[in-house]
Amino acid sequence: VDGIPVDVFGRPMGALRISLTDRCNLRCRYCMPEEEYAWLPREDLLTFEEIERLTEVFVSLGADKVRLTGGEPLLRRDLPELVRRLAGLPGVKDLAMTTNGVLLARHAEHLREAGLHRLTISLDTLRPDRFTELTRRGTYPDVMAGIHAAVATGLTDLKIDTVVMRGVNEDELADLVEFGKKMSAEVRFIEYMDVGGATGWTPEKVFSRKEILETLAREYGPVEELRKTDVAPADRFQLPDGTVFGIISSTTQPFCATCDRSRLTADGMWLRCLYAMTGTDLRAPLRAGASPDELRELITGTWQQRRDRGAVDRVGQRARGQQVFVSVETLKRD
Ligand code: GTP
Ligand code: 5AD
Ligand code: SF4
Repeated sequence: VDGIPVDVFGRPMGALRISLTDRCNLRCRYCMPEEEYAWLPREDLLTFEEIERLTEVFVSLGADKVRLTGGEPLLRRDLPELVRRLAGLPGVKDLAMTTNGVLLARHAEHLREAGLHRLTISLDTLRPDRFTELTRRGTYPDVMAGIHAAVATGLTDLKIDTVVMRGVNEDELADLVEFGKKMSAEVRFIEYMDVGGATGWTPEKVFSRKEILETLAREYGPVEELRKTDVAPADRFQLPDGTVFGIISSTTQPFCATCDRSRLTADGMWLRCLYAMTGTDLRAPLRAGASPDELRELITGTWQQRRDRGAVDRVGQRARGQQVFVSVETLKRD
């Protein structure tokens, strides 16, 4: 198999998101239910060794942007060791991580030393009481300590991801922009999506890209849209004072047309779309001793059949009055 695989709609394979665990130390209302569900047993998780081998295969097929996610990736013991291995792979152009920040204070320094390129921290509110309401946990101070530690240790290219929900935090957009300025972090506002465990999602709760822009323009004056740089999901904007922020409008203006991303679940299922209902088991062939070439062939063949446009499909379904949820359960274990 040669070259970067291209799917049915001409989209080349690009970014790989690797989930390291299905567990999380928060219970954000738009993501997970409070009750514990059947967490994956440890032997089902890909080992660091297995993740490294699969990443090598993906990178050789053009997926040279790698992002570590969860659940909460910092719950994975010795995570900096994995970061060191992946950062050391030839061909990995970009190694990033998305974290909720709760455990970041004690890990930031090690992550930087291990060679992590970029870090995104999820933060939906700057009000401790709201944080507790939204995440069902009282660890707001830990998140703040984590963000400050990341800044102090010199992890540059820091981003803050904020899911904006009407009636929850749409009154904090300017406060978050100001916080981002102080931390030298780019804030990205994300439209609330009907994905994962977002069982309370309704169209009314989506605070749209348009509304986000109007709100910030009222506060700061004219907002200028910056030119698109690549296929990353965020559109970027600039305020009159030069501050840059992003909007990820997955709900009202999905980016499926240029989507180059796929994801690997913690137990080795490979999903070709965030909204995918089915995936390809890569752990089984890996554990059965498949060679890198055999894995490349499987991945290439599968990508070539990719026709997923999950977010775009949702727009159509909603227009027809349908509401379909992909549960976390379905997402993880096909
Ligand atoms: P960079 O732009 O490279 O920094 O990464 P990123 O934006 O992919 O990273 P991040 O994990 O922070 O994702 C930000 C948000 O984009 C997520 O919280 C989702 O809301 C949304 N998003 C990420 N991946 C997808 C995807 O595959 N499809 C859709 N529709 N939305 C996504
Ligand atoms: N809508 C939008 N973003 C979501 N995230 C999780 N669930 C949703 C949802 N329903 C975001 C988190 C974090 C990233 C990993 O995914 O806020 O930034
Ligand atoms: Fe890509 Fe699927 Fe997200 Fe669309 S919904 S952007 S195809 S992952």
